[in-house]
Amino acid sequence: MRLTRTSDLWWKNAVVYCLDVETYQDSDGDGTGDFAGLTQRIDHLVRLGVTCVWLMPFYPTRERDDGYDITDFYAVDPRLGTLGDFTEFVRTARDRGIRVIADLVVNHTSDHHPWFQDARSSRTSKYRDWYVWCDSPPEDGPEGVVFPDVEKSVWEHDETTEQYYLHRFYKQQPDLNVANPAVRDEIARIMGFWTQLGLSGFRVDAVPFLLETDGQQDADQLPDPHEYLADLRAFLGRRSGDAVLLGEVNLPYPDTAKFFGDSESSRGDELTMCFDFIGMQQMYLSMARGEAAPLAAALRERPAAPRDAHWATFVRNHDELTLDKLDDEERAEVFAAFGPDKDMQLYDRGLRRRLPPMVDGDRRRVELAYSLLFSLPGTPVLFYGEEIGMGENLAAEGRQAVRTPMQWTPDKSGGFTAGEGAELPNPVVTGAFGPTRVNAHDQRHDPASPLGRMRTLIERYRETPELAWGDYRVIDADDPGVLVHLSSLEGGAVLVLHNFSERSVTASVEVPGLRGGRLLTDVFTGDTLKSAAAGLVDVALDPYGYRWLRVNTPLDDPDRATAV
Ligand code: NOJ
Repeated sequence: MRLTRTSDLWWKNAVVYCLDVETYQDSDGDGTGDFAGLTQRIDHLVRLGVTCVWLMPFYPTRERDDGYDITDFYAVDPRLGTLGDFTEFVRTARDRGIRVIADLVVNHTSDHHPWFQDARSSRTSKYRDWYVWCDSPPEDGPEGVVFPDVEKSVWEHDETTEQYYLHRFYKQQPDLNVANPAVRDEIARIMGFWTQLGLSGFRVDAVPFLLETDGQQDADQLPDPHEYLADLRAFLGRRSGDAVLLGEVNLPYPDTAKFFGDSESSRGDELTMCFDFIGMQQMYLSMARGEAAPLAAALRERPAAPRDAHWATFVRNHDELTLDKLDDEERAEVFAAFGPDKDMQLYDRGLRRRLPPMVDGDRRRVELAYSLLFSLPGTPVLFYGEEIGMGENLAAEGRQAVRTPMQWTPDKSGGFTAGEGAELPNPVVTGAFGPTRVNAHDQRHDPASPLGRMRTLIERYRETPELAWGDYRVIDADDPGVLVHLSSLEGGAVLVLHNFSERSVTASVEVPGLRGGRLLTDVFTGDTLKSAAAGLVDVALDPYGYRWLRVNTPLDDPDRATAV
């Protein structure tokens, strides 16, 4: 394919890397990571092949939800540095060809945000209508708390003004009223501010909740929330043409697809990318069963993103590894395989573990997951530490178990801080996945290490844009353990096989449009393989093995081809 397209729609084969400044690298020994420390680590990201850093919230906060409760949208939390440090980081990243996006958390503020402080002071406050109030929780209002371990209702009584306010998340996070034009203006101002300082877009927090108007008295008369999302995207486009909105939407596929924008008049005018929560959950089910079927079904069912939009794929994120879209039995299977102890589970719907400990450190299974991440269609999003095979620390509370300090060296604090005895944001991982055994320094020069392997996967993924961009089809394999997909674009095609089972298998695959005697080249080894008969190729796979095979000669139009 023409590579000019990949720089134009850069997000379509980007490598996104999510990190929290607080836990990445402390530069001044106070025990808290900071922008200065992160900037010093930029070349780790360059070597890895990252093209876009996603910064988790770095704004002033009360720390009731690890930074997702913001008290000032226009500043940097002083513990992490200054605005100057922020811009130095963005500039240095840019210099290395890395874009930076950040969390946009505007479904709610902290209850200590000056807007809410003012709003709750009286019913006639200027900011009263910036939040959602009611005299008594309405029956048709939103249902279901997100953090059932702590909250029992999405409404909290406010004693001063004798009304209830809406909070989808913790009660310390009152929901903003985005139906209010003043709030909408302010959200645009926030986006404008950070793009002006060099951000290339945002990971939009909790999008369905942001757009929700249930429970508001005038919900029926409010404008279509999707129009609002389209407005936001248009605004962003005017400010910065190549900026993106990467949205957190965890809904069934047809509902998520709407957030790309699918009105009759315009398709693809809302979120640039949506996370593929369904595919992620089905991948774990496939891994638990040793069978390709669950993931194959998800890939077949997944709606195509609009032309310039894309799905964003991931193995784990900073939250609990949610399994909420599996049915109870399926979830129980994944729990049994990867997190049998109650303490490893969270909210009855997810796991607070990272992948390597889930598979008892089995490198083959870890690599299988990352080979899927980089070869399935979609933009891969990594969570810091995945590249070196970090584990979790279950001694940390709730979701914090996977938000432990990055492990740079074998030192006690993993090289995260030089501060002796400084209090850390979260405890460092201990045991088999602690810094002595798992750290970036020791893996740096070893191509066979997790870091070396991840680099290779990323390099090949970037060299093979058909994977991210191409039309893909899932092909039936003659073995239940094997997932086969073919990505093709402008005459180029890549055949990809993953073996979820612990058996060695030779899969016979029918490749539409592939003529007999054609060569396929292994993208990792350069070895070639010949199609046996017309349209047929036999591929040997190790237990949990994978192959990416470039088809050397253009396929006949796979849709029309009758293999010759
Ligand atoms: C989703 C974020 O991923 C999560 O960490 C946070 O707690 C909630 N949104 C609330 O902002």
